[in-house]
Formats: sequence, structure tokens, C-alpha cells
Amino acid sequence: MIKTLAEHPEEQDKLYKEILDVIGSNRQPTIEDKGKLTYFNAFLSEVMRTSDFFNLFPSLECIKETTVGGYRIPKGSIMVLNFYSAHRNPETYEEPDKFNPSRFTQSTGRRPEQPITFGVGKQSCLGESYVMTQAFLFLTSVVQHFHLNYRKMQIQLVTNSICLEIC
Ligand code: HEM
Repeated sequence: MIKTLAEHPEEQDKLYKEILDVIGSNRQPTIEDKGKLTYFNAFLSEVMRTSDFFNLFPSLECIKETTVGGYRIPKGSIMVLNFYSAHRNPETYEEPDKFNPSRFTQSTGRRPEQPITFGVGKQSCLGESYVMTQAFLFLTSVVQHFHLNYRKMQIQLVTNSICLEIC
């Protein structure tokens, strides 16, 4: 999330402006603000879609033979969730490789599916609301107080540095 923020200064500007409009700079963000920060929520959704926490995730074991989409699934098979493919399906997300939080705010046309980073259904992640609450509180506070500047170091080929500058 920090890396995505730092890579997209134009997004930081939009998020900062929304935070100033809704919260201001004199108090800390609280979870009650979450419903009011439309663009921030869209940004979080787009980060979850593109950041690939898990590309593949071994999930349920098939307890009896079945057929899914014409494929035979033998008893005892382990189902692997393919998040990468789901999050980059062009039928679900227009220009899936583009980082575009606005896709989640559009009021016209079909709104894209929310990302499934935490799985779906009965087995989905029990920590989802905890993680998203913490991510919201942490990131809103960071954007409210800092501007993140991503510098690609010429010398280091593998690693990059993130520089924090006080606004
Ligand atoms: C970014 C952080 C996290 C991600 C991306 C994540 C993602 C996932 C995924 C993909 C599953 C499997 C869903 C499935 O099999 O369909 C899962 C299961 C689970 N997660 Fe997380 N998780 C995260 C953090 C947490 C945290 C912080 C907790 C606990 C406080 C937690 C607790 C669980 C539990 C208990 C399950 C098993 C649910 C079940 O089998 O009924 N997760 N998580």
C-alpha cells in the first residue's frame, strides 16, 4: 500500500484533498470517517486488486467428485484460488493492468466486482474487517501528514527507496 502510494503522486494528491475536505488537518481520522471518504475506499479496493498479496491460495478440499465448468474434479482434490486471474479478468475490469481507483467510483455503467483478496463464501478470511480497518486508519493518517516520494536508485538494481517528506 505504501509502495503504491509512493508510485502514484497524483493519487496522493487526490487522497490528500479528500482528507482535507472531509476530516481537515486538526484531528486524526477515525473509523467513522470511512463511509465519507469515497475516493479513499476506491483507492483501497484498487490496491487490493492490484497488489497480489496471494496470487494463488490453496483453499478447500473436494469431499466428493464433482464437475465445474465441464472439468471433472476428483474427490480429495485441493482447490486453489487463482486471485491473479480473477483480479485481471478484462471481462470484470476494464484495462485490468491499469491502476485506476476511479473504476470503483463510477456511477454510470456496470460497477466492477470488489476484489476477492480475502476469499469468498463461508471459508473467507476472518481477519478481513480487522485488516481493512487498520489499513484505513494507518493510510489515512500517513496521507494526512506525509507526502511519499518514490526514488528509483540508479545504483541499486533490485531495491528501491521510499523517502518520507513532511508536507
Ligand atoms: C492482508 C492480510 C490478509 C489476507 C490477504 C488474508 C487472506 C486470506 C485468505 C485468502 C484466506 C482463505 C480464504 C479461502 O480459503 O477461501 C484467509 C483465511 C483466513 N484468515 Fe486471513 N488474510 C489476511 C489477514 C488475516 C488476519 C490478520 C487474520 C486474523 C486476525 C486472518 C484470519 C484468517 C482465518 C482464521 C482464516 C480461515 C478462515 C476459515 O477457514 O474459515 N487473516 N485469509
